[in-house]
Amino acid sequence: MPPSATSEEGSAPGQATFRFRCIGCGSVNASAAQDFRCSDCGNLLEITDSSWNSRNPTALKTLWRERRRLNESIDLSGVWRFREFLPAPQSEQEIVTLREGNTPLYDLPQSSRVTGVPRLYAKHQGLNPTGSFKDAGMTVAATFARQTGYRWVACASTGNTSASMAAYAARGGMRSLVLVPEGKISWSKLSQALDYGALTCQLRTDFDGCLRLLQELVRKAPVYQLNSINPFRLEGQKTLAFELLEQLDWEPPDHIIVPGGNLGNSSAIGKALLEMRDVGLITRLPRVSVIQAEGANALVRTLRETGGKRLVSMQPETRATAIRIGNPASWEKAVKVLQATGGACEQVSELEIAQAKAEIGAEGIGCEPASAVTLAGLKKLLLQGFVKPDETVVLVLTGNLLKDPDYTMEFHRGDLFKGTPYEQESAKLNSFRHPPVVLDATLDAVVKTLEQSEKSNPTHPDE
Ligand code: F0G
Repeated sequence: MPPSATSEEGSAPGQATFRFRCIGCGSVNASAAQDFRCSDCGNLLEITDSSWNSRNPTALKTLWRERRRLNESIDLSGVWRFREFLPAPQSEQEIVTLREGNTPLYDLPQSSRVTGVPRLYAKHQGLNPTGSFKDAGMTVAATFARQTGYRWVACASTGNTSASMAAYAARGGMRSLVLVPEGKISWSKLSQALDYGALTCQLRTDFDGCLRLLQELVRKAPVYQLNSINPFRLEGQKTLAFELLEQLDWEPPDHIIVPGGNLGNSSAIGKALLEMRDVGLITRLPRVSVIQAEGANALVRTLRETGGKRLVSMQPETRATAIRIGNPASWEKAVKVLQATGGACEQVSELEIAQAKAEIGAEGIGCEPASAVTLAGLKKLLLQGFVKPDETVVLVLTGNLLKDPDYTMEFHRGDLFKGTPYEQESAKLNSFRHPPVVLDATLDAVVKTLEQSEKSNPTHPDE
């Protein structure tokens, strides 16, 4: 049972008070269509709940902290621990959870030195059960899919959504259909979907083509779509921000920097911050900035070329395959978040991504390429004076290092940019590479290699 002093703040399962609100025209409905778009204006829907605003912030902070001592699965989940700001399922037994959330907030001593930002942190969402931030949203969306009685759930994906959806579907006794672009997702993400039992279709198109096809499919077949336009997904992803603020003792950072792909995550973080401010959990908003790969920069172009009024879609190309998206579905939500929080939107090059990924690896935590855009983006925002060195900055690392081993191996072997326009320039990254050494199995060979390494790298960055 939750602690009695705070029981009046606990949410009661079964009291469905949430509604779907259109982010365009603002109309509010009790139910959402299959495509999660407003029947009046076609814009995306979000979940709203009038009960959120009447909460007592001090009691909530105590309640959430107390729950960390409890052993019920609803409390062990770092998502459902914050259930007062989530749509309530009919009962606690309905919840499909893999103990998601509870991800660490790391300091980054080496990157702090390189960037000159002493208060630099990484919220590592890659330490979720399936290795990416998607799990925080998936536990909520899978719960409501099962509660509604769907047998099949489906998504288009660059890999992480499909891995996460397949896991939560398996856990919740549902079947899952995965549409991924053939040859453009990492084996490690694909293998997860296979192991969790998804029906996995590799389509000869890109992510945007997969998503288009899924939108047609949901109108014809009884499958429930679990892409991030599903508003339940974003509700779960909001908890990243609640957990982050709790880890910072409710003192908001100045900046939160996120990678931008389909733009669900930035939308969710922004929604969470606004809700936290409205209820008094925080008194000022951090700026949320979105970073994209240069070759998949639809949001950057949308802001620069149309002031955020019309989506400029494009043919995406980047080795950060998780964000290889040219037609981001949640772009309007992301524009609103940038405007509401005063954040920036920047792009970074393939070389900048590779260097930043190696630097995060050198901190002993690592991440996948798409996550590394955050550190690369921070360097740009510092140069522009948008971020000041004395400010507190949080990078959201969205995926685990192990998600894309091919990228990492190619980088360290020096093959990542072979045959690309970056080949020559990539030589400047040589000092970040640590290729494996093949040796005869003799003591002498290993000792010599050790001595050579000591000579060429006499000091560790932390010594
Ligand atoms: N980082 C990683 C590791 C991702 O997998 C994604 C998106 C993003 C960042 C971008 O987040 O879409 O919310 O802006 N991956 C999706 C997928 C598209 O299918 O796994 P976003």
